[in-house]
Amino acid sequence: MTTIISAKDVHLSYGDYEALHGINLDFHKKELTALIGPSGCGKSTFLRCLNRMNDDIPNIKITGEIKFEGQDIYNSKMDLVELRKEVGMVFQQPTPFPFSVYDNVAYGLKIAGVKDKQLIDQRVEESLQQAAIWKETKDNLNRNAQAFSGGQQQRICIARALAIRPKVVLLDEPTSALDPISSSEIEETLMELKHQYTFIMVTHNLQQAGRISDQTAFLMNGDLIEAGKTEEMFIAPKKQITSDYLNGRFG
Ligand SMILES: Nc1ncnc2c1ncn2[C@@H]1O[C@H](COP(=O)(O)OP(=O)(O)OP(=O)(O)O)[C@@H](O)[C@H]1O
Ligand SMILES: [Mg+2]
Repeated sequence: MTTIISAKDVHLSYGDYEALHGINLDFHKKELTALIGPSGCGKSTFLRCLNRMNDDIPNIKITGEIKFEGQDIYNSKMDLVELRKEVGMVFQQPTPFPFSVYDNVAYGLKIAGVKDKQLIDQRVEESLQQAAIWKETKDNLNRNAQAFSGGQQQRICIARALAIRPKVVLLDEPTSALDPISSSEIEETLMELKHQYTFIMVTHNLQQAGRISDQTAFLMNGDLIEAGKTEEMFIAPKKQITSDYLNGRFG
């Protein structure tokens, strides 16, 4: 079990409001970690710290240390474009750009300066296959990505994130806007891909966390209450409050 991202004593404040009170958590390579906890506890805030997506928020203050493959990502020498190539992101609402499926998936490669048409074609196909959306798109690569169903759009977004071959993909409630069938298709996709990638996923769906994650981290009011192997935590949580949350006693 190799650590790929390690967070140490991460505090984050929006102005005077401290939203994270010293989070310590390691993420392991080629595992899926689920971040769970009540609304407003800081899951998205913490997730966004991991590829510095919070940077542009005014009056934000982040202290502590986050290392990606041993490098401090908040070091002033960190190249943000490089970081986000390695640590990609998929959002809650499917957010394909208003252009073709092909151009959506090829986008990151073009930004990265890849010009080899054959390589781009190959990556587009591979990524759509990995995201389990190739069958539905292969004859429609020129169709506007926004003209697909929500679940299909989310898989196109996953393909877009995978096309640049990141090592880590951050997912913020990737299935919460989807119907149950699309959600389970995305779950299956993640299950298959987690042998190749590291996923860190925020979810409100505890069954989903139980089904597909290897590690679970439970946050409440800006604190990490408990983290560990999903099967152990779901069967025998160490803290009463974790047990209460997992049993639906509050939400
Ligand atoms: N840009 C912001 N400016 C000020 N406060 C913010 C900002 N974003 C989030 N917060 C606050 O920080 C706290 C944590 O929010 P965050 O969005 O991380 O919670 P969450 O666990 O993702 O919740 P949810 O499950 O509802 O998505 C909340 O109190 C929220 O109001
Ligand atoms: Mg959130």
